[in-house]
Amino acid sequence: MDEKSLIRAAVKARELSYSPYSGFMVGAALLAKSGRIFTGCNVENAAFGPGDCAERTAFVKAASEGEREFVAIVVAGWPRDGAPGFAYPCGVCRQIMAEFCGPEFKIFTAKSPEEYETRTLGELLPHSFGSGNL
Ligand code: THU
Repeated sequence: MDEKSLIRAAVKARELSYSPYSGFMVGAALLAKSGRIFTGCNVENAAFGPGDCAERTAFVKAASEGEREFVAIVVAGWPRDGAPGFAYPCGVCRQIMAEFCGPEFKIFTAKSPEEYETRTLGELLPHSFGSGNL
């Protein structure tokens, strides 16, 4: 996996963020096992509740094109006029990841291709609820 190009894709996707209410711009780049990369950004809404996170945008794009297996995701999120920071996936996005990914799924939070952190889904969502519980 070329981590740096996946990070570059997430940082570029962040530029398309539609976040007029929070001003918090997020981009994501999701690498499927097939090798395809799906990008996404957060898409907010005047009614607030329907707003979508960047990670979910990427997962829904990928799943709706038939992808079911994934290797890693990069999240790049910080305020429109602020300095780059590390933004971790929200709880809902972690649950979306758990639908398709095991504990070894890699989650990178990135400020740039030079500055990033790596975690696994198992670290960020231990003891998750899944289809095996039903
Ligand atoms: N957001 C994401 O897109 N991903 C995250 O991991 C955290 C939060 C978005 C949702 C909302 O549009 C804005 O960031 C502020 O919460």
